Amino acid sequence: MQKSWWKEAVAYQIYPRSFYDGNGDGIGDLCGIVEKLDYLQTLGVNLLWITPFYASPGVDNGYDISDYQAIDPAYGTLQDVEELIAQAHQRGIRVMFDLVLNHTSDQHPWFIESRKSQESPLRDYYIWRDGKNGREPNNWRAHFAKSAWTYDGQTEQYYLHTFSPQQPDLNWQNQEMRTALYNIIRWWIEKGVDGFRLDAISFISKAADFPDHAGDAPYIFRRAPMMHGAEYHQFLHELNRELLSQNDIVTAGECIELTVESAIEVAAPERQEIDMPFLFEPTEYVINHGMDVPKLKEILTRWQVGLHSKAWIANQFNNHDLPRVVSLFGDDQAHREASAKLFGTLLLTLAGTPFIYQGEEIGMTNNPFPSLIDYRDLAAFSEYQKMTEEEGLNSTAALATLHAYSRDNARTPMQWDDSPSAGFTTGEPWIMVNPNYETINVAQAMGDSNSVFAFYQRLIALRKQHDALVYGDFELLLPEHPSVFAYRRSFEGERFVVVLNISAEMSDMGGVDFGGGDSADLILNNYLDIATTLRPYEARIYRETA
Ligand code: NOJ
Repeated sequence: MQKSWWKEAVAYQIYPRSFYDGNGDGIGDLCGIVEKLDYLQTLGVNLLWITPFYASPGVDNGYDISDYQAIDPAYGTLQDVEELIAQAHQRGIRVMFDLVLNHTSDQHPWFIESRKSQESPLRDYYIWRDGKNGREPNNWRAHFAKSAWTYDGQTEQYYLHTFSPQQPDLNWQNQEMRTALYNIIRWWIEKGVDGFRLDAISFISKAADFPDHAGDAPYIFRRAPMMHGAEYHQFLHELNRELLSQNDIVTAGECIELTVESAIEVAAPERQEIDMPFLFEPTEYVINHGMDVPKLKEILTRWQVGLHSKAWIANQFNNHDLPRVVSLFGDDQAHREASAKLFGTLLLTLAGTPFIYQGEEIGMTNNPFPSLIDYRDLAAFSEYQKMTEEEGLNSTAALATLHAYSRDNARTPMQWDDSPSAGFTTGEPWIMVNPNYETINVAQAMGDSNSVFAFYQRLIALRKQHDALVYGDFELLLPEHPSVFAYRRSFEGERFVVVLNISAEMSDMGGVDFGGGDSADLILNNYLDIATTLRPYEARIYRETA
């Protein structure tokens, strides 16, 4: 397997709005990130993914871009971005930016021009269609709206938007539009950025002729025909050849409904498309079905074994679109610290580049939003409306669902200390701070050698020291055990065994076989004392020596 810096990297995702407010306006910003680079260096991460900070009306917190080469003043200036890149590089930290290439804001000059007339020179930069029988061109549903089409009275046609009506989809079939995007990307590469996360990249190519989904409902949410169209791989290959291959740039794709086979298709090095897709299957499974340890073992083993030496993956258990990992996968009450450390152990001992989401390293939890008005995310409002108006849920049930799954759970401010607003801002935070900040915060965690933070530090250091944890092959141990996930990672004579008790109950070790007469040293454990049985959410890493 080809070695590379981005396979060995430990990545950290920053949602700038909620990370650290350097100027006291209640919104996190770029100078705030610069102020916290020493913290990130102390944690040990060496690659950042920073979500959008470009000029934007902010309908979807920056995923609606109105100018790819300008900075939203709430976040800072272009000079701040340059400073951030330079300061990160000085600390040996590389930087990935978010590329939103499937859509722009409806306030982007391209769309403003495109919507002017059917003859506009930029009309074809977006996807315009006539209606059908007085309705939308088809029954596709958008992520944040009923229909994926919005009627524009001025030119009497509909435009397509996979997300909100304020996020019109770009037409990737237009070569001139693609070239314009490539020029923008080239400009960012010249600024020194080391990589890109490709937002919603699956959607850049749609099924030819935009077929209706089967079914009676007026709007149907099925993503299949909206993505992975015939030119999907061709577009990604072109992007790769035009730009990425000429520079030492890493790409991580938000690839939807991924399978092992489709991951290999998009990320096998010889395909020359992207470097790694994100793996969402474990998280999606738990969101839809609840935690099921045998299933989690099955999913992760299938990926670990299936991709080995064929393609690389980006592992992440939570991000700005998902609930907090300790709340979703673990136990954010009695076993918060132990379960946060356990899932950190899992993330940092699998093959694939680990992406830690801000706050995960101190075990931040979901947030108890008291009512609908406390949410900020447009998806929270559209989901609430769908649940109450279309699915017949009452308000209490709809709020309970939001409480468990809303994207805003991950977007509450980073908890730096126990001062007002968790030390995130001296102003009024744009979204409520999780009330548990007085006990869960960075200052507390950094002063405690047994904290989740300290454990993440050790895990990161361990991964950086041992190629077996990066490149090693994966062998599932105890396949039948109902709550213990145990596996071996081996590479060039080095072997590690990871034992995770994913349960709030005690468990036996299940008779893990440490390779016959070899000895196994316990090198990391989330409990301070040694016991023969595994305690709730106990995580152990052994190093085997011959
Ligand atoms: C995926 C992003 O992660 C999400 O936050 C955003 O709403 C959509 N793509 C649209 O860009």
